[in-house]
Amino acid sequence: MKYLIGIDTGTSGTKTVIFDDLGTPIASKTVEYPMYQPHNGWAEQDPEDWWRAAAEGLKAVLAKSGASPDDVAGVGLSGQMHGLVMLDRDGRPLRPSIIWCDQRTGAECDQMNRLIGEKRVIEITANPPMTGFTASKILWVQNNEPDIYARCAHILLPKDYIRYRLTGEFATEVSDASGMQLMDVGGRCWSSEILEKLSIDRSLLAEMHESPDVTGKVHSAAAAETGLAVGTPVVGGAGDNPAAAVGTGVVSEGTAFTTIGTSAVVYAVSDSIRIDMKGRVHSLCASVPGKWTVMSCTQGAGLSLKWLRDNCCAPEIAEAEKLGVDPYEIMTGLAAGIPIGADRLLFLPYLMGERSPHPDPDCRGVFFGLSAMHGRAHLIRSVLEGVAFSQRECVDVFREMGVPVSDMTATGGGGRSRLWRQMLADLYECPVNTLTADEGGALGVALLAGVGTGIFSSVEEACAAVVKKSAPLMPDEKAGERYKPYFSLYKELYLRLKDTYKTLAGIP
Ligand code: XUL
Repeated sequence: MKYLIGIDTGTSGTKTVIFDDLGTPIASKTVEYPMYQPHNGWAEQDPEDWWRAAAEGLKAVLAKSGASPDDVAGVGLSGQMHGLVMLDRDGRPLRPSIIWCDQRTGAECDQMNRLIGEKRVIEITANPPMTGFTASKILWVQNNEPDIYARCAHILLPKDYIRYRLTGEFATEVSDASGMQLMDVGGRCWSSEILEKLSIDRSLLAEMHESPDVTGKVHSAAAAETGLAVGTPVVGGAGDNPAAAVGTGVVSEGTAFTTIGTSAVVYAVSDSIRIDMKGRVHSLCASVPGKWTVMSCTQGAGLSLKWLRDNCCAPEIAEAEKLGVDPYEIMTGLAAGIPIGADRLLFLPYLMGERSPHPDPDCRGVFFGLSAMHGRAHLIRSVLEGVAFSQRECVDVFREMGVPVSDMTATGGGGRSRLWRQMLADLYECPVNTLTADEGGALGVALLAGVGTGIFSSVEEACAAVVKKSAPLMPDEKAGERYKPYFSLYKELYLRLKDTYKTLAGIP
């Protein structure tokens, strides 16, 4: 029996899963770590925490599964996208990683437009300058921490830092690297024009691969720390969303998924590159060689519900503890008892600014219509609805671009909630299924490892053999009608608040 391992370096923790060569999960371990917010809108993590979590996860799944390390055919890496990891020439992190949801780089996005040209940056990188993406974070360090920039010898993404610690290689792959905004996304390679205009030396960047390629082998120091065998192949892997696409079987044009984790993403595959010149959604290389993707990102999705849980839902947490269930189960149970529209309470999920379809680092969360009659159950319902409205707004952009959204799979922590899935079906007006076993990104990159090491002949074949979906939830037309006035008001609120967010951000 051969085994495949997937490691997903997420925002709240790292999930490591060992699968057999049929894609069945055998053992799994999640190790959590903190996110630091030294200022409003900033978000940082310690790369050492990621490595410790990966090493602990690997040791745990090898021990729990009883698998012999020599039988591990390959390891795939997945992780939060866009985070900036800067290493000195000895491979040591120079500063905490500035991660995807950090919003400090508005001025650097303007600088990118000035240096490259607004139209040209979209033509090459397939996206307008984004505070969430890596390039503006690199400029921020150039501008604000020149001493650190001068000592920087390597720039990596979060999962590629784990690769470096496992193999000693500085390597990346197209799906995650296209979220750095330094690539010619159509050509699937680094863009010398962008690098030159942003004064970023090519030698700082990792070697580019396709996602299933073997990028290196586990070295002896890493083997001692993790329990893996020396020489175990490590494949390119993928950013968490392109990895989830493989784990969800979304690898051909016409299929799409919505994942609700810390952020929420709608992701659809295309055979050719498609770009929204208004920059409302992203275009990236897919983790399937020769394919691309259109993707949206709501910054604060599960994050909004977690915020509500941690700040307002002590009674639900206590009850969950008593019953031995997840607090989210109690919370969504309460929300299910509240009518559509939460008795006229709306929520805008902009706790970490927003990306899709409103790239705006300054906007912030809103409860609109709060009344003395509302209780915690209303707040919970309106958060679930606000996140679902944001997904529908993004799907409208996909449809406007001619990207079909008719075969939808919901995944991630949020995708496990039947209530949230039904909201998506009602709002998308299409059936929404889910996976029978949702190992998300970890399964996706384990399958990529299976392709890279010859267990499967292609990503498509791996998905057809492994990924199984549940019967879909059908859209309820009557519910769809009841959501309509709330959804229009939801869309209107951002437009009306847009300028006042700038005023708020300007208050010293
Ligand atoms: C996607 C994005 C997030 C992160 C965090 O563009 O920024 O989904 O990958 O998981």
